[in-house]
Amino acid sequence: MALKITVIGTGYLGATHAAAMAELGFEVLGLDVVPEKIELLSSGRVPMYEPGLEELLAKHVAGIEGSSGRLRFTTSWEEVGAFGDVHFVCVNTPQKHGEYACDMSYVDAAFASLAEVVREGALVVGKSTVPVGSAERLVGVLPEGVELAWNPEFLREGFAVQDTLHPDRIVVGVQDERAEKLMREVYAGPVGDGSPFVVTDFPTAELVKTSANSFLATKISFINAMAEVCEAAGGDVVKLAEAIGYDDRIGAKFLRAGIGFGGGCLPKDIRAFMARAGELGADQALTFLREIDSINMRRRGQMVEMAREALGGSTFLGRRVAVLGATFKPDSDDVRDSPALNVAGQIHLQGGQVTVYDPKGMDNARRLFPTLGYAESALEAVRGADVVLHLTEWREFRELDPAALAEVAASRVILDGRNALDSERWRTAGWTYRAMGRPRA
Ligand code: UDX
Repeated sequence: MALKITVIGTGYLGATHAAAMAELGFEVLGLDVVPEKIELLSSGRVPMYEPGLEELLAKHVAGIEGSSGRLRFTTSWEEVGAFGDVHFVCVNTPQKHGEYACDMSYVDAAFASLAEVVREGALVVGKSTVPVGSAERLVGVLPEGVELAWNPEFLREGFAVQDTLHPDRIVVGVQDERAEKLMREVYAGPVGDGSPFVVTDFPTAELVKTSANSFLATKISFINAMAEVCEAAGGDVVKLAEAIGYDDRIGAKFLRAGIGFGGGCLPKDIRAFMARAGELGADQALTFLREIDSINMRRRGQMVEMAREALGGSTFLGRRVAVLGATFKPDSDDVRDSPALNVAGQIHLQGGQVTVYDPKGMDNARRLFPTLGYAESALEAVRGADVVLHLTEWREFRELDPAALAEVAASRVILDGRNALDSERWRTAGWTYRAMGRPRA
């Protein structure tokens, strides 16, 4: 008999994981404590923008015409306990308010509820990003005869479906062979398609996740540090990144210089990692992450300074600033810790009249920064602007017609905070184009 799977927490990670498990052929039951989310998911919709996810849900959610019917959602813990052979815990672990450490309250609450209903012989699998040592502690919360595995998730927003169905690797922390066997059964599909399956102990599995994100953050801050040096020396960081990226040992990915990283993962994960290392007495090993964080945050301020300079003066008062992009990266509607909105907010606080446009992030941006100005298109945002800031590299912005925008802007100055626009196209249309870490033409 095929394993029955539950997924606890239906945010980005959980909703995608539940749909992917149904796609792999399992019967799946997703649980969330928010009834509105369950209602939405049960009709095949998601409360966020993630390419391909609604299509996958429509393919499997019970009650949708033509679906496999393998995927259902509930708010009932009893139902989850009775149903599942394998329970994936996918709740979020945000940064604690005013602290670096990670907030484990959702994970702890999920384990406590699950412990009351889980059947003997079932396997609980933690997927949330947690401080190392959590799995060892949480195994103690589960009743006798229920095992735990730790299986971190590496999905990227915007590629969540693809990353879940075809992961670069599957990492599983276990304490015994039975848990490993069950995990191999769950992931037989992706492993058969070539995804490596790495079995570790609990702490290593937890550390793989935080160290992978730290490495990615380090790569981005490294190239942004090089951008600063390029700015001082008159070099071109885009050419530099291309040239060092040809070295296989370095690799070309994650070397895009600009206003730095944001989102719900990298910034909070490196901070929580530092906090945990401190608790373990290993803080010296991670002091470099403090520098990674500070290079990253500095980029936002430097973008503000570039804008101030482009306006030729000391103040933003009364100046109109168009901001293209609000999300922390393209193909997502997520504005959590978004560098783009941070820059927009700083300029607004200094008296600038900021107008933001983003293809998918407008609702979330309006909720988070209600006092900024918003426009319904790039053209409207740019109308009357004294300077244009390109802060999230959506394809839509690369495809804009610089000549049409030149007609409506008050001043033709564009600052590319993501090094993603075709500088020649903009210059040919009469714009002054400037980018971070690149020489002025
Ligand atoms: C990240 C990890 O990539 C993923 O493996 C993990 O599971 C969760 O965290 P995500 O937050 O979706 O995923 O975003 P990612 O694509 O990694 O981008 C993070 C930030 O870095 C974005 O703000 C992006 O704009 C920025 N970035 C990325 C750069 O500034 N330069 C780059 O070269 C790459």
